[in-house]
Amino acid sequence: MKKNLPAILGGEPAFREQIPMVRPVLPTFSEMAEGVGQILGTGMVTKGRYMREFEGALAEHLGVKHAVAVSSCTSGMMLVHKILGLTGNVVLPSFTFMATASALVWAGLRLNFADVDRATNNLDPAAAEAAITPQTTAIVAVHQFGNPADIAGLEAVAKKHGLKLIFDAAHGAGARYQGEPVGKQGDAQIFSLSPTKLLITGEGGIVSTNDDDLAEKIRMGREYGNDGNYDSAFAGLNARMPEFNALLGLHSLKRLEQAAEHRNETVALFQEVLGSLPGVGFQRVRNGDRHSYREISITLSPEAFGLTRDELAVALAAENIDTRKYYEPPIHKQTAYRPYYDGRPLPNTDWLSAHSLSLPMWSHMSTETAMGICKAIQQIQEHAASIRQEPGTQ
Ligand SMILES: Cc1ncc(COP(=O)(O)O)c(C=O)c1O
Repeated sequence: MKKNLPAILGGEPAFREQIPMVRPVLPTFSEMAEGVGQILGTGMVTKGRYMREFEGALAEHLGVKHAVAVSSCTSGMMLVHKILGLTGNVVLPSFTFMATASALVWAGLRLNFADVDRATNNLDPAAAEAAITPQTTAIVAVHQFGNPADIAGLEAVAKKHGLKLIFDAAHGAGARYQGEPVGKQGDAQIFSLSPTKLLITGEGGIVSTNDDDLAEKIRMGREYGNDGNYDSAFAGLNARMPEFNALLGLHSLKRLEQAAEHRNETVALFQEVLGSLPGVGFQRVRNGDRHSYREISITLSPEAFGLTRDELAVALAAENIDTRKYYEPPIHKQTAYRPYYDGRPLPNTDWLSAHSLSLPMWSHMSTETAMGICKAIQQIQEHAASIRQEPGTQ
């Protein structure tokens, strides 16, 4: 082993064991034991008290009238789009996870891509407005990686054009918009509760809305569209949240604030160290907002940093540090969704897709681990020129 060299140049890896992207923080067995006993004892494994308790606790936490538990964020979005009666096309960002698009297509809608703001990674209200056609019925925005969307800007556009405004809040648990949890703005916001999130039910989602009619229909829609009399009001899904998941969510909710605070503190460390390196950028968070940091995504300008995003990813893999290229390819370049793309330029989407790299982030990441990742990146940057020569980094 050569001392003080990045692992890709023959040095010792920064970590002996793999540093994964995600390590979910879950309740202990003893915390869960009583509830699990209740579920098994009563035989109520679905549609029971824990789902109702979880919905009540979340509605209170989000400051919203209805938090309806569903089986995933994707199924929640499918139901919302269908029940709101959307037709024609829907404006959405292409720089997002595939489920933002798949839920719309499953609801029979056409995708109308608009560009994001390069600094925040979120849907740009001006670009969204420019994309509107006479057939547009809604805007779907995302709190990308947990960074609250420009809600006021999007509300103004939606209001002016008489459109529904829906937020894919998959990454939103723990995020605050102007001091308050995201969730109550727009017509509906849909959260994901899968294990990569801050609030976890295993698999699951929440539809958050102040619209009584929508909430009632989502409750019906998660049960086939059946209101109990077996005369389907509309074609629904089975999108119920099982009791074990809801119980997990109730305990996870107690840790949410701590998780968000810890992630923000850890990201501040990343910003302190990596912010001094040439060519490294971070998502801009608007004044008064709080990012959930469900994901820490950095951008890399290769001219200044000395390596491309892809080269850095290879060098970090040698250090046993996992990374993800979110989102490459962006939605408009994916096989299933390319046919919807009308060819309008999406320069920020394309740039972010080529230059963004997500680093590991956990709700309980130690300072030592965070600093280890930062130091590895620092060392890689110092040796950028030699790494460029290495076969296999291109
Ligand atoms: C932006 C975004 N939307 C939707 C989803 C889908 O969430 P779920 O897996 O709960 O359906 C994800 C998944 O992580 C996501 O990242």
